[in-house]
Amino acid sequence: MKILVTGGAGFIGSNFVFHMLDKYPNYEIVCLDNLTYAGNLSTLDSVMKNPNFQFVKGDIADSTFINELFDNHKFDIVVNFAAESHVDRSIEDPQIFLVANIIGTGVLMDACRNHGNIRYHQVSTDEVYGDLPLDRPDLLFTENTPIHTSSPYSSSKAGADLLVQSYHRTFGLPITISRCSNNYGPYHFPEKLIPLMISKALAGEKLPVYGDGLNIRDWLYVEDHCKAIDVIIHNGRIGEVYNVGGHNEMSNIDIVKIILSKLGKSEDLISYVTDRKGHDMRYAIDPTKITTELGWAPTTMFADGIEKTIDWYLNNRTWWENIISGEYQNYYNEMYGKK
Ligand code: NAD
Ligand code: TYD
Repeated sequence: MKILVTGGAGFIGSNFVFHMLDKYPNYEIVCLDNLTYAGNLSTLDSVMKNPNFQFVKGDIADSTFINELFDNHKFDIVVNFAAESHVDRSIEDPQIFLVANIIGTGVLMDACRNHGNIRYHQVSTDEVYGDLPLDRPDLLFTENTPIHTSSPYSSSKAGADLLVQSYHRTFGLPITISRCSNNYGPYHFPEKLIPLMISKALAGEKLPVYGDGLNIRDWLYVEDHCKAIDVIIHNGRIGEVYNVGGHNEMSNIDIVKIILSKLGKSEDLISYVTDRKGHDMRYAIDPTKITTELGWAPTTMFADGIEKTIDWYLNNRTWWENIISGEYQNYYNEMYGKK
């Protein structure tokens, strides 16, 4: 089996690469990543010498490049993680989200169609459902919840998600889609809530909490997401959407307080700042379909996952300190510059 993993130098994609190489020693993984600000080649250090792993730098939205890549490799499946992923950046500059997230998805699927109808998995998000009210804890997102987005990020992901469904219906492309809740764990870029708060707390800097901090996210340890995609690409029904999440709802302010307490820091570091525009109130996944059909359930609950995550950031300071200093962006030139 030869798998193209796009966006594999990012947070979830890299964890997926590790999971797959570890679990399937006979599979070949080609990791394609454009190394945007969010891609970090040093994350993949431990697998660079693995004979079953190959890294390729390139843009999923560049159709000439993508077609050449597909001419040169016979992929059995494509798993598309590559995307612009940060809501705040999408509010500052929506355009790049449209290109990477929508055009890029279309280019990849056309390459799949033109190279023998290759199996395609789209890593989508629960943000395509918009948000739920705080006063209705009984409501959860199911796969049938209407798509109803809030931010340019979620809209671009919804556009891609719908495009993937249309390629199945119109062209018969063998696709699956996973819509996952917020992930956390190792190699999470320190602009997102949990790693940002850990790094700021360790530096003794103010922790910026948007609005009143009562917004709720449904947190999933990244390894559990990777296992879910693994079961979907092996056993999922073609053409289907699977929600991925695990009843781990937490408010932002509670998370920030847990992080401060575990690091022995004062809550005086909390700073309530201007709310995000269009800020979604609550996300909550109903994972019944993937659990009953494919037997997947999360194995790491938040109390354990946050401990593991904080320990990882304490033990891997160089990884995130290099990001904050910008040093990680020289890594590609060091590795490949002279080749
Ligand atoms: P990330 O920002 O950490 O990683 C994205 C990776 O994609 C980076 O390595 C970046 O260099 C690469 N990339 C971006 N544009 C590219 C392009 N045009 N061509 C090639 N590579 C490109 O994001 P993440 O948190 O790992 O998210 C991965 C995927 O999972 C995204 O599609 C995201 O929408 C989805 N998702 C994320 C979460 C979450 O909580 N992080 C939850 C649900 C779904
Ligand atoms: P984020 O990690 O950006 O993920 P998403 O917006 O995709 O859910 O943000 C998670 C929550 O944390 C969200 O409600 C916004 C909030 N947040 C803050 O309060 N302060 C911050 O500095 C950041 C980055 C996020």
